[in-house]
Amino acid sequence: MSVTATLETPQTGKYEQPTGLFINNEFVKGVDGKTFETINPATEKPITSVHEATEKDVDIAVSAARKAFEETWRLVTPEQRGKYLAKLADLFEQNLEQLAAIESLDNGKAFTMAKADIGNCAGCLRYYGGWADKIEGKVIDTNADTFSYTKQEPIGVCAQIIPWNFPLLMWAWKIGPAIACGNTVILKSAEQTPLGALYAAKLVKEAGFPPGVINILSGFGKIAGAALSSHMDVDKVAFTGSTVVGRQVMKAAAGSNLKKVTLELGGKSPNIVFKDADIDNAISWVNFGIFFNHGQCCCAGSRVYVQEEIYDKFVEKFKERAQKNVVGDPFAADTFQGPQVSQLQYDRIMGYIDAGKKEGAKIETGGERHGKEGYFIQPTIFSNVSSDMKIMQEEIFGPVCSIAKFKDEAEAIRLGNVTTYGLAAAVHTSSINTAIRVSNALRAGTVWVNQYNMLHHQLPFGGYKESGIGRELGEAALANYSQTKTVSIRLGDALFG
Ligand code: NAI
Ligand code: MG
Repeated sequence: MSVTATLETPQTGKYEQPTGLFINNEFVKGVDGKTFETINPATEKPITSVHEATEKDVDIAVSAARKAFEETWRLVTPEQRGKYLAKLADLFEQNLEQLAAIESLDNGKAFTMAKADIGNCAGCLRYYGGWADKIEGKVIDTNADTFSYTKQEPIGVCAQIIPWNFPLLMWAWKIGPAIACGNTVILKSAEQTPLGALYAAKLVKEAGFPPGVINILSGFGKIAGAALSSHMDVDKVAFTGSTVVGRQVMKAAAGSNLKKVTLELGGKSPNIVFKDADIDNAISWVNFGIFFNHGQCCCAGSRVYVQEEIYDKFVEKFKERAQKNVVGDPFAADTFQGPQVSQLQYDRIMGYIDAGKKEGAKIETGGERHGKEGYFIQPTIFSNVSSDMKIMQEEIFGPVCSIAKFKDEAEAIRLGNVTTYGLAAAVHTSSINTAIRVSNALRAGTVWVNQYNMLHHQLPFGGYKESGIGRELGEAALANYSQTKTVSIRLGDALFG
């Protein structure tokens, strides 16, 4: 099999899709000669095959990243690193339609939503390009006999393992800060969505990055992912995905060379609606909070708590709103919700819907497959859900939300926090005092007030509790990719004669 394929999208027509592993700025076949298929989730049919990285390819990519780090990348000025990232951001914008079309084809997300993702990728890359020459140390005065300062140095060779729900956005969130801080990278895409990452790799070369600085591998978690997280010459691993695998990555790091670990994991985020909220506004954000990206968001507002005085009215109106969400062909102009990413995810979600029915929650709307072909699921709302039900406790990662009532602010806070997760939360209220009090009391890395899912590359994002370790985005992400060196110089006489 060659290292490119001619593919076609309904939006952009025929194009050349790289399918090789991207190592040292070249697309190559895997050493073991393996390939795997990627599926179009809207049709359940294969799109193409890509080359698969095994342990041997991981070794080659790590050596390339190590050599680039030691021999070339360290000598590139911070200003030039920033220029490369800015150029890459420009190329994302120039290729926005093509990248978005690939994303829709491979992941199933609506093309209009995919375009927004690519715009955000460019924003993120350019933002970190701006940081590259502003990563500074400090002079720390301890006494007249010493002169001491700190430097922020790169960590080195960074492995980055990303999921399939925002394939290119996760690519940009990971690569932006790592490169800004002067690291080299081996990024493994998710096996469900390898195509966008490889097209973006072509843009890396076009942007002029030296060989080996950014390497992109397609492959499976248990093989390539595990090889990266246990590799003795990888200095840091950043992972986004399930909590179960996050623990495995951390164990692999602990059992190998104690590489630094950052994790962005699951969530079961509460979306709390007080009786004084603008109800239509709240419903529109609650709807977007759970059904955006087909519910495949780590921060999805999957637990909706509504104050008892407005509960019945809210449920009725929310149900009407959810029924208006257009589910269907990702490339149709009015589509809001496409298919789930895979048969496995489809089955998991339908399993949760069954569990909800069996445990006695009431289906207000949805609960079934949508259409005959593709992994489509109707937007689903369960009401009368109690805290002990599985659908209120576990991350479903699909278009399914659970609603329950609360009496007062204290109960809203208690319910909001009864979870092992702590990624995000939201409060809907017209009282600024309620908004701030409740935001302060919720144990979550992000709290939205009168909105939901509004991430921005300038704003740090990450988890409290079992939702993760470290922060992505904003200035905070630089801490994941740099380490402090202290240099202390003696100015005065020898202390001990
Ligand atoms: P996953 O955690 O298995 O996959 C995410 C990434 O980790 C992929 O690149 C995969 O190849 C890699 N991976 C898998 N096993 C690995 C291992 N042993 N070592 C190193 N890397 C490994 O997630 P999956 O199976 O795709 O989805 C399962 C559930 O995970 C979803 O239903 C959802 O609840 C959650 N999830 C959360 C995401 C988030 O954004 N936090 C994203 C994707 C999934
Ligand atoms: Mg796919």
